[in-house]
Amino acid sequence: MRYGEGLLEEIRRRTDLVALVARRVKLVRKGRVMWGCCPFHAEKSPSFKVENERRLYKCFGCGAGGDAFKWLMETEGLTFPEAVGKLAGEAGVELPQWSPDDEAREQKKKSLYEIVELAAAFYEAQLREANGREARDYIKGRGLDGAAAKQFRLGYAPSSGHALIAHLTSHNITQDDMISAGLARPAEDGRPMRDFFFNRVMFPIGDGRGRIIAFGGRALEADAKPKYINSSENTLFSKGFNLYNFATARAAAIKAGTIILAEGYMDVIALVRAGFAHAVAPLGTALTEDQLQLLWRTAPEPILAFDGDTAGQKAAHRAAHLALPHLKAGHSLRFAFLPSGEDPDSFIAQSGAHAMQKLLDEALPLFDLLWRGETEGKDFSTPERRAGLEHSLRELTSQITDAKVAEYYRRGFDEKVFESFKKRQPTPPQARQTYGGPPRRAGKFTSAFRPRPQPGTPEAVSPAVRASLLARQGGARRVKEMELGALLVEAPDIALTHAEMLAELRLFDPSLDRLRHELLNLAASGSSLEKAGVQTHFARLGMADLLAQFAGRPNSSGETAPEHDPEARFLRAVRDLREMADPPSHRAAPEIYR
Ligand code: UTP
Ligand code: MN
Repeated sequence: MRYGEGLLEEIRRRTDLVALVARRVKLVRKGRVMWGCCPFHAEKSPSFKVENERRLYKCFGCGAGGDAFKWLMETEGLTFPEAVGKLAGEAGVELPQWSPDDEAREQKKKSLYEIVELAAAFYEAQLREANGREARDYIKGRGLDGAAAKQFRLGYAPSSGHALIAHLTSHNITQDDMISAGLARPAEDGRPMRDFFFNRVMFPIGDGRGRIIAFGGRALEADAKPKYINSSENTLFSKGFNLYNFATARAAAIKAGTIILAEGYMDVIALVRAGFAHAVAPLGTALTEDQLQLLWRTAPEPILAFDGDTAGQKAAHRAAHLALPHLKAGHSLRFAFLPSGEDPDSFIAQSGAHAMQKLLDEALPLFDLLWRGETEGKDFSTPERRAGLEHSLRELTSQITDAKVAEYYRRGFDEKVFESFKKRQPTPPQARQTYGGPPRRAGKFTSAFRPRPQPGTPEAVSPAVRASLLARQGGARRVKEMELGALLVEAPDIALTHAEMLAELRLFDPSLDRLRHELLNLAASGSSLEKAGVQTHFARLGMADLLAQFAGRPNSSGETAPEHDPEARFLRAVRDLREMADPPSHRAAPEIYR
């Protein structure tokens, strides 16, 4: 760490964050906080706030947030030291000098970049030479024209095995540096030093700022083994921490609102050429946690586009499990599956960009992928098997470290289990009585939502007491919950301005709570929350019945017209619900609903 926290805090303190952000985003004051439309996702009403007091910015829509340094890194693509340097300069804070060792290391790194860049230019030039003909034909045969080759700086590593070494030597590059840059293999077993890549089509790999740091090289023959080789790890290149095409895709992802992860270099090129500029790929290894974090820095819900065959399915599930511990509000994944035997490259060639877009639009949310993984093709005809399913679903949710997200997954799985089994294995009526309190319509407060004692809750609350509590509160509470639900459907953009409040609220009616949850999801996805669109979305999610109940429902309070100040009505409803949830004489007792 080059700078101490004290120094960084000093720079933050002297930086006017609001003024800094206002260079890019139009901000409007509301009390002590400034609000604007988030620059990291498309939105029409402001859910992005900046506070000088806390020296933070935060978007309730997409989850982006951080301090002044992060702001510069995200909006100007600066590295952390660069952001520190820039703000220190503006704030008049003097930075300590680097040690000579630091200086030497940085110099060395800088010269390695230059060497790798020299190699990239050499490979590019070789592709246009006479002996690059076979590679040119290969690239053409894969459907790429000269413009594509130029855009991705494709090249050719000649077959002699020492062409690059000769070229770099003529530029006074030492052999040690060629090896350090991952471009030459050292001499061994009496063989002289030789080029790392030979007779391959070259795909230059850039870092987050677009500087070339490594290469992937593809053999020209169809059956060559290995098909691809990649630069080995070195000072510049760390496979697990970079993504192919990341620098360009990052900017495009902010515009597109998402980022696509494909499996191979050729897939990325095909996607970009088909208009999906926001496409990246890992670098010859399975997706790593660091790469996931890179994806999430650009978009709240990256789409992983995998092959439809078993290997692709396996890769998808591996990625899903990798993601679980890192999920948080507004950070998830979606999965697009290609037909078996196809990858995005071959699929686009065959079916076109429209069909690809459709696959992406239909991408499966992480939650559904996990459910599918646990249930598809399995038989749950015995109670033991069903218990086994519930057990493995609990195992999954237990890996989610974010308490709120874990809670939603738990409830979501409960709901799914209940929905799937209610037809086959009806809950005995007396059981429903025990868990559900007073009689109500089937499907509400049912056994899937069996009460779990909460910490601090009197464990000894008997079913009878539960029932009487429910009876006392249930009716009034449900009326309030319905009122809130109707309000959310009527004025959905409340979910943007009051996302936090809405996220903390628990509705006891599962279908209303689902509505609340889906609305938050929608808000987090960056979609515009305009009434008609939101209703269509809910209807598509199977909530049409619920919407119909709102439509036929008179304005319950009777005090205000439905269109009158929805925000005030929302705040009042939340306050009322909170009071109901916490009666002075029975602290936390209604938690038994959950
Ligand atoms: P694929 O075999 O799916 O590659 O491997 P692809 O991009 O479809 O290859 P083409 O279309 O036959 O050219 C996906 C990725 O896995 C890595 C590469 O990064 C490749 O792009 N890979 C694959 C290797 O590193 N080595 C290999 O031998 C094969
Ligand atoms: Mn392919």
